[in-house]
Amino acid sequence: MARQLSGRLVLATHNKGKLREMQALLAPFHIEVLSAGELNLPEPPETGTTYIENARIKAMSAVHETGLPALADDSGMDVAALDGAPGVYSADWAGEPRDWDVAMGRVETQLRQIGALAGSPPRASFHSTLILRWPDQHEEIFEGRVDGTLVFPKRGDRGFGYDPIFVPDGQGLTFAEMAPEVKNAVPEDDSLPISHRARAFVQLRAACLWTKKP
Ligand code: IMP
Repeated sequence: MARQLSGRLVLATHNKGKLREMQALLAPFHIEVLSAGELNLPEPPETGTTYIENARIKAMSAVHETGLPALADDSGMDVAALDGAPGVYSADWAGEPRDWDVAMGRVETQLRQIGALAGSPPRASFHSTLILRWPDQHEEIFEGRVDGTLVFPKRGDRGFGYDPIFVPDGQGLTFAEMAPEVKNAVPEDDSLPISHRARAFVQLRAACLWTKKP
């Protein structure tokens, strides 16, 4: 069984979109959630080549700075016809400062160049790797994935990152056309949530057996 967590937890992210989603997913539980941004924590360079390595870098840095348990999410979008790119480099494709139109434009241009926009919609998947790490170096890993297709031009103005071009399988709307409560809803029954992040959170919450607020 996973180790129990009570008291304070640092969310090791400076990404406002991710932070909003992680806070909402943790809101029903008895945990005091702090964020790397509000604590002015440094943003460590993500030098890993896998989602797990990068999530660990962020979690370890937040634990080191605060002495508290930390939860990090490393995520990204893998496009099948681009051999999995942008993948772990999803944020980098937006340049500096981050411009998500640039990132989505790069995906579209590269797909067009290889003729992958001529036939059926390109396949893609979103991945979320969560690492929950304690000051004594104990850690637990949870992963969520959702498959879908890409649409161009982009649709919707909610969400963040690549949300406007991704339609999860079984849904007619892009992530950016859905209300965040729908994208990240955790069903009461055993059915899967829609988003990769909510899918990873379901495992995290089940493993940690957190008590719900009344
Ligand atoms: P990182 O985990 O900080 O390396 O950033 C992951 C990047 O992947 C984000 O900055 C987004 O561009 C993209 N991404 C991850 N999850 C989502 C999502 O739920 N919607 C849209 N884009 C996402």
